[in-house]
Amino acid sequence: MKEKFLEVLRTTKQNVFVLAAEHEDERHAMTVSSVFSVSLEPMSMAVSVNKNASLHSLVDVGRKFSLNLLTVSQIDIAEICSGAEEGKIRFEHPDWDFSEIPFLKNAQSNLFCTCKKIVPLYSHSLVIGEVDSVVHSGKMNPLIYQDGRYES
Ligand SMILES: Cc1cc2nc3c(=O)[nH]c(=O)nc-3n(C[C@H](O)[C@H](O)[C@H](O)COP(=O)(O)O)c2cc1C
Repeated sequence: MKEKFLEVLRTTKQNVFVLAAEHEDERHAMTVSSVFSVSLEPMSMAVSVNKNASLHSLVDVGRKFSLNLLTVSQIDIAEICSGAEEGKIRFEHPDWDFSEIPFLKNAQSNLFCTCKKIVPLYSHSLVIGEVDSVVHSGKMNPLIYQDGRYES
């Protein structure tokens, strides 16, 4: 049944985000697609983060994170942030801006959030954040992941 479950998931078209967070002298970024909007009042987002991911230990209630919706031209960043590179090397890409919380300046959109709740569940934690500010480039060309591949 698990194989069938995975088969079903592979048929879905997923938007690709990079989640970034920083605390004291630690900074992490990771590619995520288990992301959804929770509510409009207040504007809130949830992202499912594996407990083994380096970024997991950085998230806490009251801390900030950015969710960066990638465009089709950012496959390289999606790959870098999902294992091709590790740790701080992920931030060597020129698209990063470190003016406050790290964010990707050429992303389709950036959602800047403050973590309100963490719900640990099985292998993952649902990290729920209220949206403090939104940057939208106006582009409508999101990077899509389906069947283990990026659509370009
Ligand atoms: C398209 C795509 C979507 C992903 N979505 C998630 C996700 O929603 N949650 C998650 O915990 N990992 C997700 N991953 C896996 C992480 O990006 C990957 O394990 C990453 O290397 C974790 O960071 P770390 O190596 O610093 O621990 C995804 C990977 C890819 C390629």
